[in-house]
Amino acid sequence: MANLRLRRIRVRNFKSLGDVRVELRQLNVVIGPNASGKTNFIELFLLLKELYARYVRNPVIPPYRYWWRWENVVWRGSDEPMRVEMDFESPDYEARLDVVVDYVDRLAIPYERLEVRCPSRNYYVTLEKRHGTATLTINRDYLEGLAPSEVKGLLKLAAPHAREALERVLREGSLTVRTAAESLLAPRAIFAGMVARGEGVAAINYGRDFSDRDYVLVAPGPLRRVAVRVGERQVLRFEHLLVMALRELERFFRRIVVLKPMDAQSAREPKPLRLEAELDVHLRNLANVLYTVFHRRGGRVPDRVESLIKLAYGREVHLWPKPTEDGRVMVCATEGGAELPPPCLSDSLLKLLGIGLALEQEPSVLAIDQVEDSLHAKTIEVVIDELRSLGSTTVILTTHSPAVIDLLSPEDVVLCEMTEEGTKLRRLREPEALRRRLGELGLTLSEAYIYGGLDGG
Ligand SMILES: Nc1ncnc2c1ncn2[C@@H]1O[C@H](COP(=O)(O)OP(=O)(O)O)[C@@H](O)[C@H]1O
Ligand SMILES: [Mg+2]
Repeated sequence: MANLRLRRIRVRNFKSLGDVRVELRQLNVVIGPNASGKTNFIELFLLLKELYARYVRNPVIPPYRYWWRWENVVWRGSDEPMRVEMDFESPDYEARLDVVVDYVDRLAIPYERLEVRCPSRNYYVTLEKRHGTATLTINRDYLEGLAPSEVKGLLKLAAPHAREALERVLREGSLTVRTAAESLLAPRAIFAGMVARGEGVAAINYGRDFSDRDYVLVAPGPLRRVAVRVGERQVLRFEHLLVMALRELERFFRRIVVLKPMDAQSAREPKPLRLEAELDVHLRNLANVLYTVFHRRGGRVPDRVESLIKLAYGREVHLWPKPTEDGRVMVCATEGGAELPPPCLSDSLLKLLGIGLALEQEPSVLAIDQVEDSLHAKTIEVVIDELRSLGSTTVILTTHSPAVIDLLSPEDVVLCEMTEEGTKLRRLREPEALRRRLGELGLTLSEAYIYGGLDGG
């Protein structure tokens, strides 16, 4: 599967992040004084996940529940909406998603814009939603460049009820419809609305799964050949570029994993025997997720979990979900033949288990607040090495630990400070020059940071 990477993010009006822009690399480590907004930056990804992976599918679960109420989410309880702009890159296209989130009577997305660009195919498409209307726009020269036979083919393929919408797009390059959809990332509702504009509203069955063909018919665009697995077999399928982008964005938000400091007491408690694939932010459901993964893998813990522990401890520890007599489940370890129940497990073991299980979910973004908590400096090195090796995951960490800072290149660092206008984040200006200077002075990165030598660039 092609992977979508978040390259840049700008956020306005989220907690202390009044207006923050940051470029993201594979590894991003936020350092800064207490109460400068590091945790808030981590929490931004939790809000994005709550919004796009949960709320737009099921608008009864408020995406601000972690912060109790919307006033706590916006900058100083402001009446202004929150706004996030994200730039994504994939091997096939670039995408920009701009979203405004506001609370008037209830939470809503009054404005949202998705732009998907594919310069190599001269294809630029935008979907824009303002309150109850959605507009699709495709660049004119792409549409004009379609061969007459392609246009004919599309019109022939189009079901009668979709034909009017398609003709209009071909003629005018855009189409605006009313929509009740919460978000562009609930695309079925949007496209069904576009098709329904045509003659046969009654022909649309809103409950039916909207197929790729329906999208293609309303929004002509380049097709990509992609390999998909059907059971045991790999088959080649054509996928519409816009459909692919929408699907990958949905997947991106679903796969965000955010970890804040662990609630070790709760992580140790036996939990009701329930399948839960997603880790709680404080690792409270570690036993459930271990149990779920264990069962999905036919009674095995993923190798990477135990190998991470082995690298950290220098010895083998086996983990497994142990059922209790009263039908709950808990995290249990075996070491040197002895069984270790939760009270005998160290915090570091639980934390490593949490990180290992998080990696197992192949996160798009893995954001870990205070990554060093519970971990020895040597263990941290193992963890950072592991996180650095994840090609397709954007890793965002915060730290107060010089041991972590000294494992970094200047390029990895994001400086965080609190100003009158709220939190500011920025990368080091001339990382290469800084690296040279530190070498000459015989200083480590953390020494330079603590004694104020990073600011000059
Ligand atoms: N809704 C909000 N509006 C404005 N500022 C906020 C809001 N919520 C938190 N803050 C600010 O953020 C600070 C805490 O930031 P945090 O990210 O926890 O800092 P740290 O860098 O220590 O992780 C608070 O002291 C407060 O100044
Ligand atoms: Mg913090």
